[in-house]
Amino acid sequence: MRQKLLSDGAKELTYEIREIVKKAEQLKKFGVSVYWENIGDPITKHHQLPHWIKKIVSDLALENDTYSYCPSKGVVETREFLAAQTNLLGGTRIAADDITFFNGLGDAIAKVYQFLDPASRIIGPSPAYSTHSSAEAAHAHHQPLTYQLDPNNHWYPDLDDLYKKVKYNPNIVGILIINPDNPTGMVYPLDTLKKIVDIAREFNLFLIADEIYINITYNGTKAYTLAEVIGELPGISMKGISKELPWPGARCGWIEYYNRGCDDDFNRLCQAIDNAKMIEVCSTKLPQLALPRVLGDPRFKTYRQETNEHIGRRSKLISSILGQVKEVTFNETYGAFYNTIIFREGMLKPHQTMKIKNDEVRKLVELWTSQDIPLDKRFVYYLLGAKGICVVPISSFCSELQGFRVTLLEENENELIRIFEAIAEGIREYCGS
Ligand SMILES: Cc1ncc(COP(=O)(O)O)c(C=O)c1O
Repeated sequence: MRQKLLSDGAKELTYEIREIVKKAEQLKKFGVSVYWENIGDPITKHHQLPHWIKKIVSDLALENDTYSYCPSKGVVETREFLAAQTNLLGGTRIAADDITFFNGLGDAIAKVYQFLDPASRIIGPSPAYSTHSSAEAAHAHHQPLTYQLDPNNHWYPDLDDLYKKVKYNPNIVGILIINPDNPTGMVYPLDTLKKIVDIAREFNLFLIADEIYINITYNGTKAYTLAEVIGELPGISMKGISKELPWPGARCGWIEYYNRGCDDDFNRLCQAIDNAKMIEVCSTKLPQLALPRVLGDPRFKTYRQETNEHIGRRSKLISSILGQVKEVTFNETYGAFYNTIIFREGMLKPHQTMKIKNDEVRKLVELWTSQDIPLDKRFVYYLLGAKGICVVPISSFCSELQGFRVTLLEENENELIRIFEAIAEGIREYCGS
C-alpha cells in the first residue's frame, strides 16, 4: 500500500472471550461436546424471559411507528423515563438530554474512548473487561493503564495502587469503575466508591462507571451507583439491557452524563460523543420503546429479585465445590454473574497435563500448548480438550495473575454441579501431574 493502513492502536484490540470459541469449534469437529462457560449470555444458558416481557416486545413489533428512525440520542419518552429513575436515587440529577442511546453498551464504550485525545488516559481495573481495556488502549496506541483488584481482599480495588498511579501519571484524566465487576463478581463497597471519587476530585479527573450489572446483586449485597456518590464531579454512567432484562441480542445500551455543565472540556467530550451518534442517525429503536414498558412494570422488580436469588444460589453451589480446591484462591461473588478463580503461587508449571482420551484432540491440544503461551491459557486449553469446558484465561484480562473466568449462569442445577465438579477434578489432576 502507498501508506501504512493500520493504526498502531489496532494491535490492542483483542477479545479472548470470543477467541477461545475458535479453539473450541476446532475440537467440536473431533466430537468434543463443548460446554460454553466463556460468555455472559443468560439466554444461551437456558434462561427464559417471562411471557409478559415477550408480549410487550411482540405488541411493539405490530405497531407501524416501531419501524421508523428515532431521534439520534434515542426515544425521548424513554430518556425521560430513565432520567426520572436516576433522579429517584437522590444523588446527582439529570434530564432526558443527558442520556444518549447506543447499539449495545459495547458501541458506547468504543465511542467514549475514541474521541478522547490519544495522550489522555483512563485508568481501569485489572483484571480488566477487555471491551474497555482494548478500546482505551487502541485510542492511546499503548497498553492499558490499570489499578489492581486484590484477590486476597475480596477483589476490592487496591486504593494505594490507584492513588499512586494517578498521582505519578499526569496523562490520566479519568478513572473507570465496573460495578458490579466483570470478570470478578466484586461489588464496590460504598466507602471505596467515595474514596475513588475523592481521588478524582483531588486530581481534577472525571469518572466512568460501567453499571450494566448494577441491578444484579445477591446474597444480601446492594450496589451503589455513580449518581449517588459523584457529587459535583463530571462523570459518565454506562447502562444497558443485555444483562438485566436480559436481552443481549437487542443491542441496546445508553450513557448518562453527570454534571456536564461543570467543566467545558468534559462538556465538549459529551458533545463529540453525541455528534458521533448523530452521524450514525440513531440506535436500534424497538428495545428503546420496550424499555419503559418493561422496567416500569411492577412485575419487573419481582422478576429481577427472583432471578438474582437464583444467581446467588448458584454462587453458593459453585463456592461449595471450588472453595474446597486448595490449589486455587476462591472468592465468593456478590454481583454480576462471573467468578474469577486464581491459581495459588507456583501451582502452574509448564509441563502439566490432563488426560485426554481422544488422540486427535490430545494432539491438537499438545500443538496449541507447544507455543509460547501464558500458563493459565495452557490450563484452559487442557480443560477444553479433556473436559469440554470452555472458560477464559485471566491473563487475557490484562492481568499478571493466573486463573480463569467462569459464569454463574447455568440454570440446570445438575448440569451446573457436573460442570464445576469437572473443573475441580481438572484442576487437581493438572496441578498434581
Ligand atoms: C461490564 C460490561 N460492559 C459492557 C458489556 C457490553 O454489553 P452490550 O451487550 O450492551 O454491548 C458487557 C458485556 O458482557 C460487560 O460485561
